[in-house]
Amino acid sequence: MNTTTNTRASNQKPKILVARAIFPEALAKLEESFEVRSNQEDRIFSPEELQKELSGVVGALVAGSERIDANALVNAQDLKIVANISVGYNNFDVPAITAAGVMAANTPDVLTDTTADFGFALLMATARRITEAEHWVRAGHWDKWSIVNNPLGMDLHHSTVGIIGMGRIGQGIAKRALGFGMNVIYHNRSHLSDGDEKACGARYVSKEELLRTADHVVLVMSYSAESHHMIGAKEIAIMKSTATLINIARGGIVDDAALAQALKENKIFAAGLDVFEGEPKVHPDLLNLSNVVLAPHIASATEKTRRAMVALAIDNLRAALDGKKPPSLINSAVYKD
Ligand code: DGY
Repeated sequence: MNTTTNTRASNQKPKILVARAIFPEALAKLEESFEVRSNQEDRIFSPEELQKELSGVVGALVAGSERIDANALVNAQDLKIVANISVGYNNFDVPAITAAGVMAANTPDVLTDTTADFGFALLMATARRITEAEHWVRAGHWDKWSIVNNPLGMDLHHSTVGIIGMGRIGQGIAKRALGFGMNVIYHNRSHLSDGDEKACGARYVSKEELLRTADHVVLVMSYSAESHHMIGAKEIAIMKSTATLINIARGGIVDDAALAQALKENKIFAAGLDVFEGEPKVHPDLLNLSNVVLAPHIASATEKTRRAMVALAIDNLRAALDGKKPPSLINSAVYKD
């Protein structure tokens, strides 16, 4: 196999896989305890390669680019834990991982505020057309400045933000919106407690009411079969023509082809997207539109937070291999005390 991995031999140490590049100091520390198959070149494994890389290891640090399902686990008889460096785990087929007797873990909490910051930044960039305006300056159009001919945006202050998915990150965005004097409505599988609603200044509404009345719609829910294409042509048609749509949740929740078509026809004002269907590919029509802000899945990407995510994933892996319960175990049925 033409692999980019680097195996450092040591007979006594248990073998682990680090499927994506991590901070060198974190890798060096792991190498003190484990024989590490690492991928510091950061090449994305094909499903066949991943299957081989998982063979013979007792633990694996992976990310969203690694689909862990029955096929990936076919030769992974020694595997005890797959630790995702990500809070979202739609790359995991949890029933298949559980059926294989493997623990699965993710990285909640450590990225909440960083991701909420980014969601708000993307909302501001989209509503106020910041990237478009920057291109305008770079293209030498500033001499065309006029009161009516600048990239004119939409206000955030005193507007209504509708948040779909009111977990930790959604609540973080709501609290930021309060600081901007925004009216906050939300839709979620369940209502928040009265105390949490009060802390966020948020009011529960139906999805339909949210889409119809929000000036800015922010998607923060997790991906599931239920949320697949939850926002398509029909839902966009309900939104205000002046509204913005922000997706920091997962690709596949929005029907990107339908969104591109709606943006082309100015059915809504603009969109801000950090996640895409089939990323790292981006729907080609989106690339040609000026009323969309595109980001490469960077909501959690600050150095401090990425280090914290890697550290938590390593804590999960070490705990499982020490016979302890990983701090953020997803499938507790597999853990035997
Ligand atoms: C997550 O942790 O789920 C993020 O989307 C990864 O940056």
